[in-house]
Amino acid sequence: MQINLSNINYKNSPNFSSCCRDVKDNSGKFIYRNDTSMFRQDIRNWDKFVDYLNKKFKNTDRVNIYCLASSAGDEPYSLAIKLIEKLGEKEAERYFPIIASDYDEKIIRMAKDGYLPIMDEDIDAINLHTNGRIGKYFDIAYSEPEYIKDMDILFDCLMQVKPIIRDKVKFSVGDAAEKCKIINPDNTIILARNFWPYLRGEDKRIKLANELYKKLGKNSAVIVGNYDNSDGAFATQNLYDAGFVCNPEFSIIYEKNAFPYTKTYIC
Ligand SMILES: C[S@@+](CC[C@H](N)C(=O)[O-])C[C@H]1O[C@@H](n2cnc3c(N)ncnc32)[C@H](O)[C@@H]1O
Repeated sequence: MQINLSNINYKNSPNFSSCCRDVKDNSGKFIYRNDTSMFRQDIRNWDKFVDYLNKKFKNTDRVNIYCLASSAGDEPYSLAIKLIEKLGEKEAERYFPIIASDYDEKIIRMAKDGYLPIMDEDIDAINLHTNGRIGKYFDIAYSEPEYIKDMDILFDCLMQVKPIIRDKVKFSVGDAAEKCKIINPDNTIILARNFWPYLRGEDKRIKLANELYKKLGKNSAVIVGNYDNSDGAFATQNLYDAGFVCNPEFSIIYEKNAFPYTKTYIC
């Protein structure tokens, strides 16, 4: 598939959502949103993020990456692509599989079946990060299964994920609070991004931050997103209070057993 690399200024392009789907309860009340996107901009700088990982784990044979609340998979796929593009498939292998989960059974069914609904802006972002080689990682899906039609997702294009990254991400259904209890502690990165406000109640957020701190061991970190400090949630404060230290060069990274450069959390 040939898709032209558009001339967007990625840094200044607006935020958008590739998998936009509101989930409501039986009475029609909004519960949560599956919104996500390829190379979501609140990672700040994907190249720098992979450089950070590569430096942190330069002497590590196996790196454990977990993505809690992964939604359709844009986040683990973006990371898998970036690792492959920057390190090459062989060197990136020690980061795989990325273990992804979400409590939304429908979104995980779609991810397990290898479908990814995306917007035109995602196509631009993928091309930008792969030097125009979106076709290496995705095909256009030739048909849309009925259950995806019923999910009422907003997208421009339904993609079929190619094995080169599909095989690198293992999806399962699960609540973040439970999934974080069964992680490997050392050399571990937890992407816990853009869902903290959906943990209704400060006590649940504090509990998750404490659980993560208790479970994680050496050379490990938690990564948060912009949404996690909004809608009444303040995940970075919860993580800081639990004992994590914010990386001075990367305000989305909260490390365990790090040198405390700063006594403040980033807001
Ligand atoms: C805004 S999306 C974020 C997706 C992705 N992490 C990102 O940053 O692009 C929020 C996702 O969190 C999931 N979610 C909310 N609360 C959760 C919980 N307690 N456990 C697992 N998934 C949860 C929702 O199903 C939804 O897919």
